[in-house]
Amino acid sequence: MTGRVGLVPTMGALHAGHLALVAAARAANDHVIVTIFVNPTQFAANEDLAKYPRDLPHDLELLRSAGVDVVFTPTPDLMYPAGFQTWVDVIEVAKGLEGARRPGHFRGVATVVAKLFNLTQPDEAYFGQKDAQQVAVIQRMVRDMNFPLRVVVCPTVREADGLAMSSRNVYLTPEQRAAAVAVPKALRAAAAAYAAGTRHPKDLREIMMSEVENEPAAALEYVSVAAADSLVELELPTDVPLLLSLSVRFGTTHLIDNQILPPPEP
Ligand code: PAJ
Repeated sequence: MTGRVGLVPTMGALHAGHLALVAAARAANDHVIVTIFVNPTQFAANEDLAKYPRDLPHDLELLRSAGVDVVFTPTPDLMYPAGFQTWVDVIEVAKGLEGARRPGHFRGVATVVAKLFNLTQPDEAYFGQKDAQQVAVIQRMVRDMNFPLRVVVCPTVREADGLAMSSRNVYLTPEQRAAAVAVPKALRAAAAAYAAGTRHPKDLREIMMSEVENEPAAALEYVSVAAADSLVELELPTDVPLLLSLSVRFGTTHLIDNQILPPPEP
């Protein structure tokens, strides 16, 4: 292919968050490739691989309307043929947060994304800020492995009430869906406190925790205030950009969300 190629890797069940990545890739490239592959190696045995939402005909229709040139929908056998035994393991940034909650998850993500990069040879690859740790892992991998491409990060697309769009939102019952607004509310409360001068990571974590604990349908997995670049958990106030993030379970459905706080004006 001549001209610039933009890649948008997805697991399908496409929503407006995915389509925002596609639109950004479309605007900046001559060719857009979207991959749809529910990657088995990033799901643990107890996770939702079998029931992960799939709707290929609808996805293809959306991507046709969005002006995508190529959709790559490999099978697990094509990506992981018999004898497969090579993995990409990004160590430090994959340790905490979702990496701690989901051992092996980011090894599966990094490996499949490396394979998709090699198969499609993009100039740019588009990822959502919604999965902040995934972005950090991919950026680290691209630098460490010298992938000749640029990673473009797009803002989180939200529902009208603030809930981050996610393919997993379809699992929520109407009651859980209503309760899930506690997740973006917790981030907004901590961001507002930060803007008003609350700087101690412990205080910011407590603000997020208490918002979630006020919602009986929500079970908190973790809240975090980390350095946005390294994802190292912070114990003292600093002037580096912060990543606020949390993982909350509603029944059996895990939702994650995050927000970056730029350092205060000097
Ligand atoms: P998936 O969950 O399908 O997400 C595909 C891409 O869409 C990711 O970059 C994700 O961060 C982005 N995305 C999801 N919800 C978003 C939202 N509300 N706003 C903006 N972007 C959003 O992430 C994966 O698939 C997989 O791990 C993958 C990278 C494809 C590797 O298998």
